[in-house]
Amino acid sequence: MLTNAHLKYESQKLGMNYFRVAIVLFGAQLLLGLVAAIQFMYPGFLFEVLDFSVARMVHINALVVWMLYAMIGSVYYMIPDETGEEVVGAGLGKLAFWVLTAAVTVVVLVYIFIQIGSGTEATIWLINEGREYIEAPRWADIGIVVVVLIFYWNVFATFMKGKRTGIMTVMVADLFALAGLYLAGMFFTDNISMDQYWWWWVIHLWVEATWEVFVGALAAYGLIKILGAKREIVEMWLWIEVLMLFGSGILGLGHHYFWIGTPEYWWEIGALFSALEPVPLVAMFVHVLYDWGKEQGHMEANAAEGEKAHAVNNTPAMAWIATNAFGNFLGAGIWGFFHTLPQVNIYTHGTQFTAAHGHLAFFGAYATILIGMMYLGVQGASGIKKMTMTFKTKMALFLIIFGLLGMTVALTIAGYEQVLVERADLGGGWDAYFTAQNLPWMVQAMGWRLAMGVVTFLGFVYLLWDLLTIGKAQAKEA
Ligand code: HEM
Ligand code: HEM
Ligand SMILES: [Fe+2]
Repeated sequence: MLTNAHLKYESQKLGMNYFRVAIVLFGAQLLLGLVAAIQFMYPGFLFEVLDFSVARMVHINALVVWMLYAMIGSVYYMIPDETGEEVVGAGLGKLAFWVLTAAVTVVVLVYIFIQIGSGTEATIWLINEGREYIEAPRWADIGIVVVVLIFYWNVFATFMKGKRTGIMTVMVADLFALAGLYLAGMFFTDNISMDQYWWWWVIHLWVEATWEVFVGALAAYGLIKILGAKREIVEMWLWIEVLMLFGSGILGLGHHYFWIGTPEYWWEIGALFSALEPVPLVAMFVHVLYDWGKEQGHMEANAAEGEKAHAVNNTPAMAWIATNAFGNFLGAGIWGFFHTLPQVNIYTHGTQFTAAHGHLAFFGAYATILIGMMYLGVQGASGIKKMTMTFKTKMALFLIIFGLLGMTVALTIAGYEQVLVERADLGGGWDAYFTAQNLPWMVQAMGWRLAMGVVTFLGFVYLLWDLLTIGKAQAKEA
């Protein structure tokens, strides 16, 4: 993780820089999640030192930012492979990286140390914009836009100069939409319905449209790189996935417009299109496993004929990409579908059920494949032809997956209790909320969430340790 020794391209070196910051922010995200989870059980913990509101905010903002870092890193890493060219503006790209990282550091410090006091026009500019997940103050927002413009220019101009593969075409178009949507989270209106209306354009249209397409393109790239899968087949699947993802995901936005003061036609639109959202996720799942199985089959057949086999050349990355196929389907597809119809959502809205889905989906759909990309980066940077799993790789996989599934189960039980007691039985008022919060099902679930959070964190320690050491160890063996 710390070396660039075997990378020829500046673009890939820059990609590694993004990966390095991403993994640090991932660790910070988990630590603050643990603080917030402890505060659920012992509300006095770190009170007025690091309040729950701050811990929670840093937890989820760090999540979004580390994922964006790892996404930018992945793109810089794949550019030379896909286009056959060095990135056009490496120097500018590097400058943007340092500017962004300095800005992120300042924003995090302001989050942690300066959050108490009244909100004014000035605090929107300097302290906090007040929109969950993208709370960065406006000065940082504008900085982010500038940095992203540089990034996008780099991707686009290199694409125009070099080979234009299907994967890269999807990437270039998708990144345009992804970056453009960020602007919808920068308006200010003092009408909370309107504010939420635009805010969901960023949040939903990121994770259920543009980020999913991004993952489709990454998986396609990964399958070619790791398995030697046939480009024509992989790209054909990719186009189908893009069509289905946008076809369902864009209007699926309606599932956030059920109760925020938007017109009632959103009930039908949201229900219909969001119910279709799991379909492309099934397709992506089938596609990855099918290709993996097919290449495995070819390999065995070739080996039987005594030919040189094309083996999986990076088993840690492949394991995380396979986990992605499962996790995306389970976290986004199944856990999302559970509460997406208005008839159900009227009971589950804003309960721990939402948090269960949020955790499994973000982890399953995004954390997994981005970790896989980091292993690809480490492989390239250390010049390893065939990277294989170590004990640490397996511990990381096992503990992180087990921890996340454990947290999800605990939160799902808590959400179920809220639906039955707080909403269905007691009618969902203020007293009902506190009654439900104090029942044993909820209290125990919060205990289990914390315990499973600790398991996840242990897994992260193994992951970090593995990423730092696997390159050197296996390069030496080779
Ligand atoms: C990888 C993709 C996805 C991610 C990362 C994700 C993540 C999230 C998160 C974090 C929230 C909570 C937002 C908040 O703070 O209020 C949420 C809400 C929601 N998600 Fe997803 N989601 C994904 C896909 C899906 C899919 C495919 C569906 C439906 C089939 C779905 C249905 C919903 C619904 C209905 C809500 C609103 C919950 C409520 O009313 O409280 N999600 N999602
Ligand atoms: C050490 C492990 C973790 C712990 C202890 C933890 C704990 C928490 C806590 C206490 C909250 C606040 C919930 C609330 O307000 O009711 C939260 C929110 C959230 N966390 Fe985590 N978390 C962990 C790991 C993760 C991971 C790995 C991800 C994603 C990859 C993630 C994504 C989220 C999201 C999206 C929310 C907002 C959910 C919502 O509003 O519906 N967390 N987490
Ligand atoms: Fe959504």
